[in-house]
Amino acid sequence: MRPDTPLPWINYLGSEEFFGIVSNTAAGYSFFRDARLRRLTRYRYNNAPLDLGGRYLYVRDDETGDYWSPSSQPTRGALDEYRCRHGLGYTVIGSQRDRIEVETLYLVPLGQTLELWRTRVVNQRPEPARLSLFGAVEFCLWDAADDATNFQRNLSVGEVEIEDGVVFHTSEYRERRNHFAYFACSGPVVGFDTQREAFLGPYRGWDRPVAVEEGRCRGSVAHGWAPCGVQHVRVELDPCESREVVFLLGYAENPPEAKFDPPGSGRVDKRRVRPVLERYLEPRSAEIALDELRTRWGELLAALQVRTPSVHADRMVNVWNQYQCMVTFNLSRSASLFESGVGRGMGFRDSNQDLLGFVHLVPERARARILDLAATQLPSGGAYHQYQPLTKRGNDAIGSGFNDDPLWLILAVAAYAKETGDLSILQEPVPYDGRPGTETPLYEHLRRALGYTLDRLGPHGLPLIGRADWNDCLNLNCFSETPGESFQTAANREGGAAESIFIGGLFALAARELAGIARRLGDPEQAELAEAAGRRIADAVRRHGWDGEWFRRAYDYDGAPVGAAENEEGRIYVEPQGMCVLGGIGLDDGLAARALASVRTHLATPHGIVLLQPAYSRYRVELGEISSYPPGYKENGGVFCHTNPWIMIAESLLGDGDAAFDYYLRINPSAREDLSDVHRCEPYVYAQMIAGKDAPTHGEAKNSWLTGAAAWNLVAVTQWILGIRPDFDGLRVDPCLPAEWDGFAAERRFRGALYRILVRKPPGARARASCLLVDGERVEGTLVPPAPAGSTVDVVAELVPVESELPAGTGEQPVPLPG
Ligand code: GLC
Ligand code: GLC
Repeated sequence: MRPDTPLPWINYLGSEEFFGIVSNTAAGYSFFRDARLRRLTRYRYNNAPLDLGGRYLYVRDDETGDYWSPSSQPTRGALDEYRCRHGLGYTVIGSQRDRIEVETLYLVPLGQTLELWRTRVVNQRPEPARLSLFGAVEFCLWDAADDATNFQRNLSVGEVEIEDGVVFHTSEYRERRNHFAYFACSGPVVGFDTQREAFLGPYRGWDRPVAVEEGRCRGSVAHGWAPCGVQHVRVELDPCESREVVFLLGYAENPPEAKFDPPGSGRVDKRRVRPVLERYLEPRSAEIALDELRTRWGELLAALQVRTPSVHADRMVNVWNQYQCMVTFNLSRSASLFESGVGRGMGFRDSNQDLLGFVHLVPERARARILDLAATQLPSGGAYHQYQPLTKRGNDAIGSGFNDDPLWLILAVAAYAKETGDLSILQEPVPYDGRPGTETPLYEHLRRALGYTLDRLGPHGLPLIGRADWNDCLNLNCFSETPGESFQTAANREGGAAESIFIGGLFALAARELAGIARRLGDPEQAELAEAAGRRIADAVRRHGWDGEWFRRAYDYDGAPVGAAENEEGRIYVEPQGMCVLGGIGLDDGLAARALASVRTHLATPHGIVLLQPAYSRYRVELGEISSYPPGYKENGGVFCHTNPWIMIAESLLGDGDAAFDYYLRINPSAREDLSDVHRCEPYVYAQMIAGKDAPTHGEAKNSWLTGAAAWNLVAVTQWILGIRPDFDGLRVDPCLPAEWDGFAAERRFRGALYRILVRKPPGARARASCLLVDGERVEGTLVPPAPAGSTVDVVAELVPVESELPAGTGEQPVPLPG
C-alpha cells in the first residue's frame, strides 16, 4: 500500500458528541458536537499538500538523528512499508522505516469526549534502538470561522496551562467559556511545547520541526499566537521489544459557577478530567474501547446483512453504505474534506432523506430527528431550508422557499412508521417555527406539507418551484446578474409562473404515503383527500409535463419549458424521470417505460447517469446556478449520485432487474475501486458527484461522504433490487434481480424480530415472487406479517419466471386495516 492515494481517503471517528475526521495520513481535525463552534484542532482547507493539519506523530532515531512521520504526513519521508485500515469508528495506520515498526490506532471510545491514539513501536533491528516519539496537535480557538479570519484578536488570546505533564488549552476560559481541551500522553514524558513557533522553529513548517530535528522540546508556554500541544516521549527498545504509548486529546466542560480550582484562582478546575486521564492513558483502555466499538457496530449492522452473488453489493450493503448512512445522519452536510464545517446547518430536505437509510439502524434516534425537523416547519406548511443543530431553530441564512422541502418530511415519517409500526409519532405535539404554544400533532404537520404545495400551483396546475426544488441550482425566479451573489439568497422575482414537474412527481409519492398513514390512523377521509390530490397533480404532470419521449423538468418564469426537446441545451433531465415514476406516474400507460428508455439513450454513461443533456455551455440568467457550472460538473450534467438510485428504483418498478443492477454497479464505490486513478475519491463511500461526459475529467468523483447518495443507494439496492422493504403492515420480500442471479440470502431485523430470508431464482430468467413460505407456511403475495419481537422467522421466496414486465406497483396498494 502507498500513502499517496489520489486524494486523501478519510474516515470518521466518534458517533455521539466528539467527532474527528481522519485521513489515511492521519490528517483531519476534531470537534465537539458542532464542527464550527467547538472546533478543537486547527485545519487549513485547500492546503498544499491537500490534507495538512492533523494528528501529528514523529519518530526520531536518537542514535542517528533521522526522523519521520509514521503516517507519512507531515514529513512525507520515505517509508519501507505502509498500511492504513479504516474501520467502523476507528482507523489504524502502520508503517516501517529502518526496521522500526510503528502502528497507531485512532478512536473515540463510546460515551467519551476524547480521542486516543494508541501507538505501538516495535524494534525489528538486531540491536537496541533509542527513539523519541513526538505527538502534536495545533489547537483551534473554538469557532473555526473566527479562528481562520479574526487575527487581530486571536493572535493575542491563546492560553494554556500545563500540569502534571498534561497540556490544557484554555483560551477564553478566563472569560465566558466553561470548556477546554487537553492533550496528554502515557509517557514517560521528557518534554513538551505549547507555542507552535517554539516547536517548529522560525520559518519552518510541520514537516521539519526544529524540536524534532534536535530531539528536544523547548518547554514553551503559549501566550497568544498559536497554542499547540506537543508531548515528547523517549523509548529504548531491545531487539524485538515493543512499547505502547497513548496520546489523548480530550474535551471537557465545567459548570459555569464552578470553573476554577481553587475558586477564584483563575486556574481551570481539572477534577473531572483526572480520573478520565487515569483510565484512558492506560494502554489496555484503547483495546477495550475498540472491542466495545466492534460490539456496537456488530449489533447495529446485524439489522441488515446480505449474501448475494455480487461482492460489491455485499461489501457496500453489509458495511460501508450503512456506515456512511450513520455518518450522514450524524453530520448532515457539515464536516468533510468538501464541507468546511463552518457553513451549513442541517438541511431540512437533506436530513429527511438521510433518515431513509438510517431508520433501521437506530429507530429511536430517527424518531427524535423527525420531531426536531418538524418543529422547524412553518405554520404555512413550508420549511426553513436549514436549521442549527445546537439551537434546533430554523435559519434563513441559506434562504427559504425551496418548495419541495416540506414534502420530504412525509417520506421520512412514512419510512419511520413502516420500519417501526409506531404510529404514535403522528400524535406527538410538535410546534411550528420552534414556537411554544403552536403545537399540533405531527399528523397535522404532514397535512400542511401537502397543503403547502396545493396552495402554490401554477398556470398548468403544476407545483410552483419557488427558489428551487431538489435541484438547488435550478433557480427559475432568480435572474442574478451580480458577480458572486449567492443564488440561494438573492432576491427572487415575484409573480412568475415557474413550475416544477419534479415536485409534481414527489407530490404524487408523498400523497400516496400520507394516504397510507391516514388509512392506518383510521382516517379514510384524509386518505381519500390525499389520493385525490395526488391524482390531480399526476394528471397535470401527464398532460403538461410529458414532452413526447420523457418528462419535462419545469416551466420557467415566462412559462417556457425546461428539459424539453425544443430546448437547445438541457433537453432532458434525470430527476423527473426518476421521481415521476416513483410517484407512480406513467406506470400503466407506458410513459414510465419510455422515460426510462430515454434515460438510457441520452443520460447513461459508463460512470453513471448524468443529470442532464446537453450540458449548458453558457450562463443562462433565466435558469440560475445550474448554468454557472462548467459543463459536466455538479448540477450541470455531472453524474449526481443522489439521483441515480431513483432510476434504479424506477427500473425495479418496471421489473427490469438487469437495468437496475447495472446502474447500481456503475456508481458503486467498491466496483469502482479498480478505476481509482480516474475516480480518485474513496472506493468505499458514495460521492455526491462524478464528473459527467461533458467534463474533461469524466469519471472523477468529488464531494465524497456527506451526500443523499448514501441513503438512496441503500434504499434502492436493499428495498427494491433485493426487495426487502418495510411496509406499514409487515416486511415485504419482493426482489427484482438481475436475470443471471440464482438468488441470495439475507438477515433483516424488523420490529424486534429476526427474518432469515432465502430467495431462490431460476438463473437466466426474469422472475418475481408471487408467494412466500413463512416458517414453512405458504403466504400469498409478498408481505410477511410482523412476527412477535424476539422471534426468528424463516422466509423463503421462490421466484417464478415472468414473460416481460410485471404490472408494476404490484402489492404496493395500501392494505386496508381489518374492521
Ligand atoms: C446537494 C444538496 C441537496 C440538493 C442537491 C442537488 O446535494 O445538499 O440538498 O438536493 O445538492 O442540488
Ligand atoms: C448544493 C449543490 C451545489 C450548490 C449548493 C448551494 O450543495 O450541490 O451545487 O452550490 O447546494 O448551497
